[in-house]
Amino acid sequence: MSNHSREQWSSKFGFILASIGSAVGLGSIWKFPYIAGENGGGAFVLLFLLCVVLMGMPVLISEIVLGRSTQRNPVGAFRKLAPNTPWFITGYIGIIATLLILAFYSTVGGWTLTYTLDAFTNSFHQITINEAESSFTTFISHPFIPIFWQAAFLILTMIICYFGLQKGIERTNKILMPLLGILLVILVIRSVTLPGAMEGIHFILYPDWSKVTVSTFFEALGMAFFSLSVGAGCMVTYGSFLSKKENIPNAVGNIVLFSTLVSLAAGLAIFPAVFSLGYEPGIGPPLVFITLPAVFAQMPAGGFFAALFFLLLTVAALTSAISLLEVSLRYTEDEHGWTRKKGIMIISTVIFLLGIPATLSYSSLSDFYTVSGLTIFDTLDFIASNVLLPLSGLTVILFVGWKWGVPLLLKESRGDLGKDLPFKTAWAFVIRWITPLLIVVVFLFQILSLLQK
Ligand code: TRP
Repeated sequence: MSNHSREQWSSKFGFILASIGSAVGLGSIWKFPYIAGENGGGAFVLLFLLCVVLMGMPVLISEIVLGRSTQRNPVGAFRKLAPNTPWFITGYIGIIATLLILAFYSTVGGWTLTYTLDAFTNSFHQITINEAESSFTTFISHPFIPIFWQAAFLILTMIICYFGLQKGIERTNKILMPLLGILLVILVIRSVTLPGAMEGIHFILYPDWSKVTVSTFFEALGMAFFSLSVGAGCMVTYGSFLSKKENIPNAVGNIVLFSTLVSLAAGLAIFPAVFSLGYEPGIGPPLVFITLPAVFAQMPAGGFFAALFFLLLTVAALTSAISLLEVSLRYTEDEHGWTRKKGIMIISTVIFLLGIPATLSYSSLSDFYTVSGLTIFDTLDFIASNVLLPLSGLTVILFVGWKWGVPLLLKESRGDLGKDLPFKTAWAFVIRWITPLLIVVVFLFQILSLLQK
């Protein structure tokens, strides 16, 4: 139960890289572009940035500080700071969210693995949009093959976590994140230099307010939480391995800056290419799996760029998946004394069992809807991203703002550098009032709109 010598990141750089690795994932590279595509491009981007600053960042700072100051998992952290109170439930909400997210995340993780291999073997050579669509539909509607790839994705995640914090998670991020950065830069350059790319750049950078509806706000909040990895205890867990010396506001600045830049860069890698070749930006989830292979097929050396893109997506997905698995692993280790091996085996089995129906939502269970026409896949995503993440984000921010107190947050976040969060009075106000109010308003509207559907 106690953590006398909590394992630590080997350096602050390792922590920042792993946190960016967690943040940058399918959310930033697969979901962000298609949601932006459906919601008016630049207008969505602006709302997203607003949500990142006013809702995502305050929760991110709070989660990391709670983890660092208690050196515990999300449940243990609240038990330590507020013993014999129900605040620890926040930790369980987060843990459940990570399990649900990993269940559907591994579905898409499996798709990215297959697509990477296909792209490397040049299967997308001269593929047309119709062929790309039928090959994607045939693949996802197969009853077994996608499950096989989902399992493969989960096994990769398990193996990395098995090697532990420094040798598994930190080392993987140190190798893969720079690779991701390089791949992304190459792809952005390729995309924005295509003839007619300006239209795509315009689409992602200039707001088209006519496409903005109330639901755009919910999407923006959901996306801000999801893409910063907050609301699931991930950052409490990663923060618990951070040395007390380090200055947290400084680390958070880097995490937010880089992960937001990656989302924008993903948009810049995708839309100019999509527009340049005359495709539709708003086709939803299959944008990356259908439109992109067809886009690449028409470029010189397109097979090579397709392979780079899907490799990028796989890398991003893996470094996020390990952060999701680590939350419940640390919880079972800290609170129940499980070994890592036992935790990995049991937790991954649970995730896999939950994940099978998510994958089958695209084949045998495609006509099975829960509420409001959501498939099982969509339901898992909805419960996790739109209910549990905001709920846990809300309790974290209420805890820090009203129970634990902003002065303690500031004190605990300083580290040896001794520097406070810049504009601390303004942040204190945001943390106590703005963030919780905004989360509540968005949350209520969202539930109402779902019920009205
Ligand atoms: N942020 C990741 C993405 O954008 C997914 C993710 C990892 C996540 N850990 C999380 C989302 C914790 C919410 C909470 O793909």
